Amino acid sequence: MKISIIGTGYVGLVTGVCLSEVGHHVTCLDINPEKVDMLSKGISPIYEPGLGDLMVKNMEAGRLSFTTSHILGLKEADVVYIAVGTPQGSDGAANLSYVYQAARDIGRNITRDVVVVTKSTVPLGTNHKVKQLITANLEGNHCVQVVSNPEFLREGSAVYDAFYGDRIVIGADCPEAAAVIEEINKPFGIPVLKTSISSAEMIKYASNAFLATKISFINEIANLSEKVGADVAEVAKGMGQDARIGSQFLKAGIGYGGSCFPKDTSALVRISEELNHDFHLLRSVMEINENQKTVLVEKAVERLGSLEGKRIALLGLAFKPETDDMREAASIAVAEKLMELGAEIIAYDPVAAENAQRILPEGVLFAAQIEEAVKDADVVFILTDWKEIVEKALILSSLFMKNPIIFDGRNCYTEKEVKKYNVEYVSVGRMPVI
Ligand code: UGA
Repeated sequence: MKISIIGTGYVGLVTGVCLSEVGHHVTCLDINPEKVDMLSKGISPIYEPGLGDLMVKNMEAGRLSFTTSHILGLKEADVVYIAVGTPQGSDGAANLSYVYQAARDIGRNITRDVVVVTKSTVPLGTNHKVKQLITANLEGNHCVQVVSNPEFLREGSAVYDAFYGDRIVIGADCPEAAAVIEEINKPFGIPVLKTSISSAEMIKYASNAFLATKISFINEIANLSEKVGADVAEVAKGMGQDARIGSQFLKAGIGYGGSCFPKDTSALVRISEELNHDFHLLRSVMEINENQKTVLVEKAVERLGSLEGKRIALLGLAFKPETDDMREAASIAVAEKLMELGAEIIAYDPVAAENAQRILPEGVLFAAQIEEAVKDADVVFILTDWKEIVEKALILSSLFMKNPIIFDGRNCYTEKEVKKYNVEYVSVGRMPVI
């Protein structure tokens, strides 16, 4: 069985590498020649723990290759995965132009019967349109079946998730096509849920929207906890011990970021609108998240008064640890707000600094080492809980700062830990430690 994957972004590349690791022959296609050149040299364009080594291993074993040629990439394929981006358009809806282009390319280039698998997150009904487009562009008399196989990988632990995920959803209207995809996924040993195409499309959006809801919910509880003197970490622990609630995604902080939750919640709201349904709950989830991104700035203003001329160290810029992804990272909103208030910013991230330089407002300074960022700072903000930052921020602040004060958007330390150092500490949903 020959597998081709269209799109070598985060989803396509991880899928391609992991499918080759379990023994399949995979060709990854991308229209970007520089990217394909880089990949062909064994260099991963994204920072994802474990991915680069696995990629090289499978390229050397002759199971994984990269090409820009649709003819080469699709001609011998039995199964084609569509894993191109569905970025958010200006109206909030998912932009499907890359998906539709991939469908046309498949139609024009396949030379046998194929099963086409949609990995990209697409609104309800898209898979039917994909099938129509492929069929309309077919040059031979080939049978094409479309399967929706949403991905649930998290950035930063995508390789782990590919092998130890909770479920694989296979949405198909044709049992034979579903069986082909089930067989391909057998080596992963992950439970398979077979559904209709529409249900699979909905499962993806509903899952991300639900996780985003959990985060906004706990952030609201955090904001309330501060007012009544409760500790949100204790509250989340107590809630999470109820198996019906579950303990995950109840970590309060400065809101969710990344390429998925913001884009998918917004797309689901748009889908609802088109169906004349007001998804009021999800609109609130999004609004809470926007407000949450800058709660630390408000706390700093409340505590210190004017931030004009204050040198503020921003520790951690990526939307979460173990990634260089800056998309919708809270650091962007925080930096913009602080600049507006006249603060001087020195930013540090162990991996995402290069991407951040392109995205954060002009005038933000960058430190190559965490020590350099903290050294002359008046205030420290923790925005991403990278291991290095958690290990060093408290101790460095106590050593280097005149009046050490940390505003922690990720609740990295307990009161007991903070009290060992001479540091004022303000976090989210908990009482300040003075
Ligand atoms: C998310 C989902 O978790 C994946 O299942 C899904 O496949 C992926 O989107 C996608 O659709 O591609 P990801 O965005 O990589 O994965 O990262 P998460 O680990 O889910 O974190 C998202 C954001 O929520 C981060 O900013 C994180 O800091 C924040 N978060 C997460 C919280 O603030 N609190 C929590 O308790 C959990």
